Amino acid sequence: MKSRKEVILSTLGLRAGYGGKPVLQSLEIEVREGEIVAVIGRNGVGKSTLMKSLIGLVPAMSGSIVYRGEAVELLPSHKRARLGMGYVPQGRDVFPRLTVAENIVVGAAIKGEIPRASKKRILDAFPILAERWSQRAGTLSGGQQQQLAIGRVLISDPNLILLDEPSEGIQPNIVQDIARNMVELNRATGVTIILVEQNLDMIRAMAQRCYVMDKGRIVASLDHAALDNQAEMRRHLAV
Ligand SMILES: Nc1ncnc2c1ncn2[C@@H]1O[C@H](COP(=O)(O)OP(=O)(O)OP(=O)(O)O)[C@@H](O)[C@H]1O
Ligand SMILES: [Mg+2]
Repeated sequence: MKSRKEVILSTLGLRAGYGGKPVLQSLEIEVREGEIVAVIGRNGVGKSTLMKSLIGLVPAMSGSIVYRGEAVELLPSHKRARLGMGYVPQGRDVFPRLTVAENIVVGAAIKGEIPRASKKRILDAFPILAERWSQRAGTLSGGQQQQLAIGRVLISDPNLILLDEPSEGIQPNIVQDIARNMVELNRATGVTIILVEQNLDMIRAMAQRCYVMDKGRIVASLDHAALDNQAEMRRHLAV
């Protein structure tokens, strides 16, 4: 029998927010290597704040974040990235006037050429980017820009990807393409994914289980079978 996978990331009593006011209220999650875990919840409950806090863009006020056995809550975000955490922000943030290739170079803060192995990793995961390689990112569709934003973090070969609402503003058929590419990437490389989403189709296509957030806390943890319960899922996402 396969042994149970190690915990890759856990938080304990995590509080974080803005201007001294916590948004995250003693938040606790535990994610194992190779899992795809969704975090769902209504607008404004703190999902993006959680992702920013995990990568270090919003400092922890108290509590811990343990990544691969190491407390990282005091580390700046570039150090967390160097330890293998990749972050894809909500709204994608690609540079519209730069080409796909330039976006990857700038995003990774590398000088000169993209290493061949990194380029292969990105194009294996998102083949559409090969056709668009020298095009300006601003000419890409929303779905292609999203794949570029995800591809950009693959350059550093992360062990964990924090993916904030990738389906936002993207056509349903492309949402399925991106979900399929992400699942294939997860199967091929074993990369762990924490996915913030409100799109039920994307959650069901990608996630193995899910946390429900409300008012800065985890209020439910749903197993895979529960993801197919449309009524319950809608209730957790309802405004
Ligand atoms: N930079 C900021 N400064 C002050 N308050 C902020 C900031 N960013 C977010 N907030 C507040 O923190 C709370 C949580 O916001 P957050 O963006 O984490 O929610 P969310 O669950 O990601 O919402 P959405 O589903 O709309 O993306 C909200 O009340 C929001 O107004
Ligand atoms: Mg958000």
